[in-house]
Amino acid sequence: MKSESALPLAVTPDPGRVLDPLPFASPGAFDPGLEAFLQEAAHHLCRWLGTAASRPPLPGLSLLPEVEPQPLGLGGERLLADLQLLMEGSYNPSHPGALAHLDPPPLTSSLVGDLVCAGLNNNLLAEELSPTLSRLERSLCGWLARRVGLGEGASGVPASGGSLSNLMALVTARHSRGLQTCGEAVVIGSTDLHVSIDKALVVMGLAPEALRRLPVDREGRLDPGQLERELIELERRGRPVIAVVATAGTTVRGAVDPLVALAAVCRRHGVWLHVDGAIGGVLALSERHRGRVEGIGLADSITLNPQKLLGITKTSSLLLLADPGLLPATFATGLPYMEPSWGPCHGGESGLQGSRSAEILKLWLGLRQLGLDGIDRLIEAAIERRRRLHSLLETALPQGALSLVSGPLHLLAFRPAGFDAGACASWSARCRADLMAKQLMLSRPLYQGHHHLKAVLGNPHTGEAELETLAAMVRRSLPTIAAQNAGIGAVSMGVAGNGNGAGSSHG
Ligand SMILES: Cc1ncc(COP(=O)(O)O)c(C=O)c1O
Repeated sequence: MKSESALPLAVTPDPGRVLDPLPFASPGAFDPGLEAFLQEAAHHLCRWLGTAASRPPLPGLSLLPEVEPQPLGLGGERLLADLQLLMEGSYNPSHPGALAHLDPPPLTSSLVGDLVCAGLNNNLLAEELSPTLSRLERSLCGWLARRVGLGEGASGVPASGGSLSNLMALVTARHSRGLQTCGEAVVIGSTDLHVSIDKALVVMGLAPEALRRLPVDREGRLDPGQLERELIELERRGRPVIAVVATAGTTVRGAVDPLVALAAVCRRHGVWLHVDGAIGGVLALSERHRGRVEGIGLADSITLNPQKLLGITKTSSLLLLADPGLLPATFATGLPYMEPSWGPCHGGESGLQGSRSAEILKLWLGLRQLGLDGIDRLIEAAIERRRRLHSLLETALPQGALSLVSGPLHLLAFRPAGFDAGACASWSARCRADLMAKQLMLSRPLYQGHHHLKAVLGNPHTGEAELETLAAMVRRSLPTIAAQNAGIGAVSMGVAGNGNGAGSSHG
């Protein structure tokens, strides 16, 4: 590392003024101190990224640097040394064995996007605080909404994460139905809805019972016939519906609800359809893969989370609407302390958030860095890894030893077939710990009453070696089960709502 003196903070003296010791970049001259500081920080980060494979996905507990500010400010060298401690203790998404969650390594251009975004420090609250970035946001949201099939005139707004996008969708749907003060109104989805919908109901002041969770079929999908029966029953009882929430990519297995049929049911009953596409929505950007989320463009609103599969740095999430005018109709309050908007409305009036950063910048850079071909290939590779792991597990284990649940995306969860809940809990804890020791990190979700191990195959660094080791270790975790199954012949193909055929029924 360079010496302390080579790393001054941005304190370049401004001739003719009393030396201002505060660390802001000079507005009157190029600041070599700032450049050196950024370069050194970039060097630390590139080294951290470039050594990811030599550290486990989940590090052990590391030292936390001193937290409180000292009486006198610190120099760059000390700040970077403290930062290094934090980095050593950080989750390591770039490790090829990081397969547990929907948190891939960062796309390189989105690192640059975040840095420049911070440097510009614009505010998407209002155009006069973000003149070009507000236009960029509107323009890219419009392109994304059209690209996923919401139609001409569609657009949306970024939000800090999928949970917030889902919440804004439901608040907008409720407002458009004039149900703001109706305590009887309900939201309908499947048992596999993401928990952010429960949270949205809390924020909206609705009772937990207002979320009607319908059971999923063997493929983990909401059944349109069942939805129709539920809507008829609710009509009979005079319970208004805020929205039906379908999921394009459920959290544990990546199932996609039958969106075309669900949209037809919603249309027949005049009900808002929101698609939580936090996981699978980005597939609609790809001509080659949009069939896996067929019908997504028939929704009234869609949550799209490029921070997941596309690797845009967190947070990057959007709410897209067929009729984006409903956003200001719901959220606009007027901003009396701002000049009027130059466009349809201020960014801070088209959603829940007021001040917010230009998240759109890294998304714009990332999409252009990838290109349509890169998006296709990234999705293709993730799905191919899921297919490959599925087939390795099937060949490594006696037929029916595992109950695998999956869908058309890049997620796969499994557990020993025929095990009760307690046995699944201990097997999954033990197997996960053994895998961790080999630097393979899976998650351990509780799904349909049983703990599963879940692999998210969105990490572009994961290769054949990791998948083979993973399958072999899962096989070794189950010798007695295999024998047991062979002995009793009671292989449970559908215990977890889906049998071994689940994944293979998807391309
Ligand atoms: C289907 C689904 N919807 C919504 C979310 C929430 O997204 P976020 O964590 O960005 O708030 C998730 C998170 O994993 C999810 O899986």
